[in-house]
Amino acid sequence: MTLWGGRFSTKLNKQAWELNSSLFVDQRMAIQDVDGSLAWADALHKANILSDEEHASISLGLDTVKREFASGEFHFVPSDEDIHTAVERRLTELIGATAGKLHTGRSRNDQVATDFRLWMLQAIPELNSALRILQSSLIEQAELAGETLMPGYTHLQRAQPILLSHWWLSHYWPLQRDRERLTDLTSRVSVLPLGSGALSGIPVPVDRSALAESLGFAVASPNSLDAVSDRDFAAEFLFCAAMIGVHLSKLSEQIVIYTSAEFGFFELSDSFSTGSSLMPQKKNPDVFELTRGKAGALIGMLTGLLATLKGLPSTYDKDLQEDKAPVFQATDTLLAILPVIAGALRTITAKPERMRAAIDSTMMATDLADYLVGKGIPFRETHAIAGKAVRAAGEKNIGLEEMPLEAYQALSPAFEADVYQVFDPLKSIVKRNAIGGTSLQSVKNQITKCRENIQA
Ligand code: ARG
Repeated sequence: MTLWGGRFSTKLNKQAWELNSSLFVDQRMAIQDVDGSLAWADALHKANILSDEEHASISLGLDTVKREFASGEFHFVPSDEDIHTAVERRLTELIGATAGKLHTGRSRNDQVATDFRLWMLQAIPELNSALRILQSSLIEQAELAGETLMPGYTHLQRAQPILLSHWWLSHYWPLQRDRERLTDLTSRVSVLPLGSGALSGIPVPVDRSALAESLGFAVASPNSLDAVSDRDFAAEFLFCAAMIGVHLSKLSEQIVIYTSAEFGFFELSDSFSTGSSLMPQKKNPDVFELTRGKAGALIGMLTGLLATLKGLPSTYDKDLQEDKAPVFQATDTLLAILPVIAGALRTITAKPERMRAAIDSTMMATDLADYLVGKGIPFRETHAIAGKAVRAAGEKNIGLEEMPLEAYQALSPAFEADVYQVFDPLKSIVKRNAIGGTSLQSVKNQITKCRENIQA
């Protein structure tokens, strides 16, 4: 039995029916569908569309349906086209023809958009807390890192020394922005479409603001045509998911590189690494590689939905049924990745001696230029002088710290014996004390802020 058979003389072709059916995807919104229906029944009752008895019967029936979903006792039947049809079919079995009154003034167009938004309103906090757990792994590692130094890179070339803790936290902040983006999105998800009908509004005197409030929405949608077609929230959600994927992929890429023998900056714990079926010595960072790989799929989910939405005539078009699968899949992907990455990072071991060994004195060439700035020479000139020093040391195959003072003084008379202090990487770090820099104090302040943020 379909909800729309009245005007048709033959049944839908079987394969067409299967193509049309969305139950396998939208059954995830079962609880939301029942909750929306309960609230709609209340609204119809308040509007005197449902009598007291009808309202009581529908509400009791829906409570039973909800219990059946919660306990796993609900049985779908082959004729259930989507979750909305399934709930109404079951309600009819439970309470008889009165069930048919529930759809008064309602369309699956406003119903599905409502269910989807309700679903997302509970998914956002779930993602948020998974992100927060990952952020706390990063803070823990930052605290553990203490004064450990590591090379900082640009273009993947050794650039300047940094604190390992500063590096850990550089992966915290992108996730903080992701959480803020998700929270910000909530206000656009929290708009109630129910009461828009199929497209043009409803001829029943339902108080939509009260209905919005009863379902936990901030407001009722202001335009019925827009309400049944708006999937901005789904696209935005997928953008948030893709951005999280991109952030995690960058972090993952660095862990993959840094756990290689060539770098040897980190070692993964056995519980988060995998072996090779052929090479007995291998310890592979699969979880990070998978995370890096899945970022590609997450980007695809966003671009796929945007392509579906592009050029759609207003208002509801069946294309919109394609909106839920990517959103569910993106959520599942992230909820699978995030706890694993959080665990893998919490149990990773840093190798401070390897990191320290990768810092050579040329990485203090900027500090050498700054040293001369301190002696009153303009930076443009000091940059060139320091560059010459790097070249001279390179030609002799020695470190900057091994060049004799006379060689420095030949480049600039401003060099004095204190120049050698410049090559202590910790000194270089301590100087970078402005907000956001890699100095010990600045990173300590950062950790305090990070802790505050994840508690908020
Ligand atoms: N399964 C549909 C969807 O996900 C529900 C809305 C159906 N509306 C319609 N006019 N056929 O979009």
